[in-house]
Amino acid sequence: MTKPIRKAVFPAAGMGTRFLPATKSTPKEMLPLVDKPLIQYGVEEAVAAGCTEIIIVTGRGKTTMEDHFDRSPELEATLGRRGKTKLLETAVALSKLARITYVRQPEALGLGHAVLMAKEIVGDEPFAVILPDDIVDAVVPCMKQMVDVFAKTGCSILGSEVVEGDAIEAYGCLACKPMGNDPRLCEVSDLVEKPKPREAPSQNAIIGRYILTPGIFKCLEELKPGAGGELQLTDAIKALLASEKVFGFTYEGVRHDAGDKLGFLKANVEFGLKREDLGPPLRAWLKTLNL
Ligand code: UTP
Repeated sequence: MTKPIRKAVFPAAGMGTRFLPATKSTPKEMLPLVDKPLIQYGVEEAVAAGCTEIIIVTGRGKTTMEDHFDRSPELEATLGRRGKTKLLETAVALSKLARITYVRQPEALGLGHAVLMAKEIVGDEPFAVILPDDIVDAVVPCMKQMVDVFAKTGCSILGSEVVEGDAIEAYGCLACKPMGNDPRLCEVSDLVEKPKPREAPSQNAIIGRYILTPGIFKCLEELKPGAGGELQLTDAIKALLASEKVFGFTYEGVRHDAGDKLGFLKANVEFGLKREDLGPPLRAWLKTLNL
């Protein structure tokens, strides 16, 4: 019997430099995708996967995330007085999504360091990691797909997708052997963070979804700076390979890199088009553009 995945860690202490100037005083994780901040999509995905405890790794200038998931008595009273029942329900439901704990990363030293900040709260159990700027649109939520695989393997699992050409240099890259019984699963034999395209062992990129065993924390504590001088989660997972099996998992769905300006614009159009209320007028307006 594998332990259930109850806790999900959200590294959200980065500086969001690709999205300046918007992210100078607004957390990237709070940028809206249609009408919900990016991080809310991730938290809802974790809850849909069965997680009951959300751990957000935060930093200076990021307190709006805490307000977003908290009660807002003035807003609730105003919505109640105005008879806006549906909006009131939405606001209250948001504060009851899950138990949310915040932990600070004093300096943005890298993704691996951000995950290490959650060590005490995670404790000795396997846990999920969701990067809130990677939005995965899927029939079965991406983390739920991964939790189901974890229940069968009990090993760390890295969400993965094949990327084209030189794009691999922006990702952690997996070398892996396919598994006979499941074409979506492969056994990882090596990992490289942000490889030069000619040196990449494959085109399999790690996306912002992980299930990690608690053994990762020892590897994170022993980590030396890697690509870009940052403490890289990929390097810690490579160290974990010495003592545990790690699997790559090709999720079913469409991912949007909403931490990048173009990816963010595309995600807003696609999510807007899917909405019952906004889709038809948005589609009609897009058709009038002389592209
Ligand atoms: P990114 O590299 O996408 O975020 O990290 P970033 O560093 O904020 O953005 P850019 O590249 O400068 O534009 C993925 C996730 O990891 C978090 C980020 O907040 C983001 O959600 N992160 C990154 C941390 O929490 N701490 C860090 O030291 C680095």
